[in-house]
Amino acid sequence: MNCVFVTGTDTDAGKTVTAVALLQALYQRGFRCLASKPIAAGADLTPQGLRNSDALLLQRAAGAEQAYAQVNPFCFAPPIAPHIAAEQAGTALQAARIGAALTELQQQSSDWLVIEGAGGWLLPLNMHETMADVIEQLQLPVLLVVGLKLGCLNHALLTVADIQRRGVTLVGWIGNQLNPEPMPFQAENIRALTATIAAPCLGILPYRSDWQQGMADYLDVSHLLQH
Ligand SMILES: Nc1ncnc2c1ncn2[C@@H]1O[C@H](COP(=O)(O)OP(=O)(O)O)[C@@H](O)[C@H]1O
Ligand SMILES: [Mg+2]
Repeated sequence: MNCVFVTGTDTDAGKTVTAVALLQALYQRGFRCLASKPIAAGADLTPQGLRNSDALLLQRAAGAEQAYAQVNPFCFAPPIAPHIAAEQAGTALQAARIGAALTELQQQSSDWLVIEGAGGWLLPLNMHETMADVIEQLQLPVLLVVGLKLGCLNHALLTVADIQRRGVTLVGWIGNQLNPEPMPFQAENIRALTATIAAPCLGILPYRSDWQQGMADYLDVSHLLQH
C-alpha cells in the first residue's frame, strides 16, 4: 500500500485541509483510500465515545468503511499537547504502540493510506520519543504543509532539515493560505520555499471557507504517484 504522512510547519498549518484534499484527489483518480489520525487531543464525548473533528473529516473523506477506532486509536478530550493529555488520562503515548497501529493499517487491502500528524513534525510522545521517531522507524514518505504566514520559512526549513537528517523521504510540500488575505509578499515567500526545499511543490491551496469541497483541484498528486 502507498502511504503518506502529512505533517505541518505548526499546529493549524492546514494539515487537515490538505489531508482531506489529498484523499479527495486520490479518490477521484479511482484509488481506494484509508485515513489515519493516530493521535488526537481535542475531542467531544459522544454516546459512541470520544470523537475528534479531524479524524471524523478524514474518515469521511477516505470513503472507506473504517471504524473510528481504526482511524484514531489514541484520542484525548482536552485540546492540549497530546503527551500531557495522555498523562492526564492516566496513560502514556509510546512510539512502538503508535507504530504498531500504523503497521496494522498498512497491512489492510487498499491503494493509499493518508496519515495526518498532530501538531508539528517533532510532536513529543513522551519525554524521550517524538512522532518523527515513529515515521523514521516505519520509513514513511512525508508531505509537508507550510502554513503561509510570517515565520513559515524558518519553520519549514527546520522541519525539512530534521526530515532529511533522519533519512526520511520528503515527497513534497504544500503552501496553504491561512487567511482570506494572502500574507504580505506571499509570492516572494513561495519563491523562497521553492528555492530552498529540495522536494517538489504539490500545490498552493487558496483560502476557501468551503474548503471541505473542491480543494483537490489545487493539488498535483502526480509527484506522489511516482513514489
Ligand atoms: N486554505 C484554507 N482555507 C480556509 N480555511 C483554512 C485553510 N487552511 C486552514 N484553514 C482553517 O484553519 C484552521 C486550521 O487548519 P487545519 O487544516 O485544521 O490545520 P492543522 O490540521 O494543521 O491543525 C481550520 O479551522 C481550517 O478551517
Ligand atoms: Mg488537523
